[in-house]
Amino acid sequence: MSTAAPASASASPAAEAAALREQLREHNRRYYVLDDPAIPDAEYDRLLRRLQELESARPELVAPDSPTQRVGAQPAAGFAEVRHAVPMLSLENAFNAEEMEDFNRRVQGRLQSDAALEYACEPKLDGIAVSLLYRGGALERAATRGDGRTGEDITHNIRTIPAVPLRLLGDDYPPVLEVRGEVYLPRAGFEAMNARARERGEKAFVNPRNAAAGTLRQLDPRIAAERPLQIYCYGVGLVEGTAGLPATHLAILEKLRGWGLRINPESAPAIGIEACDAYYQQLAERRDQLPYDIDGVVFKVDRIDLQQELGAVSRAPRWAIARKFPAQEEATRLLEVEFQVGRTGAVTPVAKLEPVFVGGVTVSNATLHNADEIKRLGVMRGDRVVVRRAGDVIPQVVSVLRSDRPSDARKIVFPKKCPACGSPLERAEDEAAIRCSGGLVCPAQRKQAILHFASRLAMDIEGLGDKLVDQLVEEGHVQTVADLYELNEETLAGLERMGEKSARNLLAALEAGKDVPLARFIYALGIREVGEATARSLAAHFGDWESLADAEEEALQEVPDVGPVVASHLRGFFKSAPMLREARRLLRHLRLQNPPRRAQGDAAALPLAGQTWVVTGTLESMTRDQAKAKLQALGARAAGSVSAKTHCVVAGPGAGAKLGKAESLGIKVIDEAAFLTLLQDSGGDA
Ligand code: IVH
Repeated sequence: MSTAAPASASASPAAEAAALREQLREHNRRYYVLDDPAIPDAEYDRLLRRLQELESARPELVAPDSPTQRVGAQPAAGFAEVRHAVPMLSLENAFNAEEMEDFNRRVQGRLQSDAALEYACEPKLDGIAVSLLYRGGALERAATRGDGRTGEDITHNIRTIPAVPLRLLGDDYPPVLEVRGEVYLPRAGFEAMNARARERGEKAFVNPRNAAAGTLRQLDPRIAAERPLQIYCYGVGLVEGTAGLPATHLAILEKLRGWGLRINPESAPAIGIEACDAYYQQLAERRDQLPYDIDGVVFKVDRIDLQQELGAVSRAPRWAIARKFPAQEEATRLLEVEFQVGRTGAVTPVAKLEPVFVGGVTVSNATLHNADEIKRLGVMRGDRVVVRRAGDVIPQVVSVLRSDRPSDARKIVFPKKCPACGSPLERAEDEAAIRCSGGLVCPAQRKQAILHFASRLAMDIEGLGDKLVDQLVEEGHVQTVADLYELNEETLAGLERMGEKSARNLLAALEAGKDVPLARFIYALGIREVGEATARSLAAHFGDWESLADAEEEALQEVPDVGPVVASHLRGFFKSAPMLREARRLLRHLRLQNPPRRAQGDAAALPLAGQTWVVTGTLESMTRDQAKAKLQALGARAAGSVSAKTHCVVAGPGAGAKLGKAESLGIKVIDEAAFLTLLQDSGGDA
């Protein structure tokens, strides 16, 4: 069966409907039972819609076993079955404002009212629907949706999610309360989990939803406990007992929040369909900044009595609708694979694609990560592949539509030699990356090294961008970074798209940057694994260039965040004759500013000594760099990314993935006000 090809348009409606039903049944099975979807959700939606269209034009075509008539798929074997007392329904979809207006008109028609309706608006999380049954306030059982009537008992896995209360708070909850919600993986948690899997050569998950589903299906709860699953609750199912619930959906959510359940803070009321549209637009704009994937907005008639009056059809309630966002996964053709060389020589295979609109932009390149990933995907040139673009993460190929492989598909062969300089490629033991061994001989590595050297947090050389570096390297004016300081106006002005004025500006920028703090210089050298924070620690610890260059691995490891790996990269750099020569050449042009030396004892006495902090989002009273400087003055290390070793995150408005990651790792987060108080209390000037 061809999984993605539409049923022939020339076939009779009955034959087309039958073909669609068969395709949809197979896709349902792959999605729900095998956790191995063969097409992107957007394509599934299109197939289902087409079948719905055919069936509503010709009602005699509706078969009782049509995929349009049921809620999901059969539960998988291996788990105890759970019968849902109140069916877990699905939602009707709308793909544009017009379909939303149709929905609103239908609802008003049924209620025989043309007054603006009050809707509850909620992000539509892309995760797994679950039911949590609380009896006497204690979590008794958790289940998946399954086919909507019967799901699987996954209590053992749900109990590992810290945000799921095992006991409800307060005492005014109904004796039997079934809460419904969505279990998901925050984007940062998913990326970290997949990066680890790839490093170990294990199977990576195609997307956070699949990863969450795969995790909940594990029989061993220790696996779920290791993964940063999260939950947002969005409604109730079975409710028994006298206490009763409030009269509107949003008030019920507030109650649930009071009982200790996690409710999405984005949930909000909207009066009338225009207000719903405004909510949709603003959330669509912030979609990439949310720490989790959403695939749309759910609109629900807020009043429960009206919900009851409206009722449901077999698959979905009449009082709610999901307005979908542009899809984050789409299928397209992989035309060619290019191998790109990065600053450290790592060679990344990049898929050249037939352009496809996905995640709101047209994508024609996607990463294939490394050789292991190509093997794992089993991808060939010419294949139809699923491309995913979510948030600001670079687009990637997540799966291959094997059934659509053309007969002339060709194998992807990883080169043996560097595509930029011809040096042999090497793979270090226990590393996924394959690297060019050419070092400074390799023009691709040189270009990347120069761009890094000139970047904002390094030497901050304004006007030295991508195109200019390409020209300088290709025409042989600059071999390595030290050559930058030997450029003259004549050479520069002779370059394409370069006038006398820009040439003079670049030379002035180079000149102005010659007084450089030691830490920036260390960072600018682009030594592997030596980021900005590590460079600063090294500068503070050694105080001057010579002491650092002479330090043995043991001495290097005395620096707070330098472990054996970083120490060996540093020694490797200082032992390499060409690297040292390059550094010495640079030092003839530059004037390093050494940090004030601090005695060991003093540093350890500082209030935040030994702690790692991260600043994210926008602060009102200072820039992020100022905040970092203040943290460093108190002895903390100010890092650029959140990890398990982070002590605390200072988050201002607009904080995105880093905040999400901190939350998923359970790391302390404080706002600007708390940060200012801390600075004052610690004697740091606020
Ligand atoms: S309400 C009767 N609210 O979307 C209403 N569902 O396509 C049923 N979902 O199975 C669900 N976020 O897994 C609702 N805020 C939200 C949701 C949400 C995500 C999922 C849920 C459901 C599917 C329906």
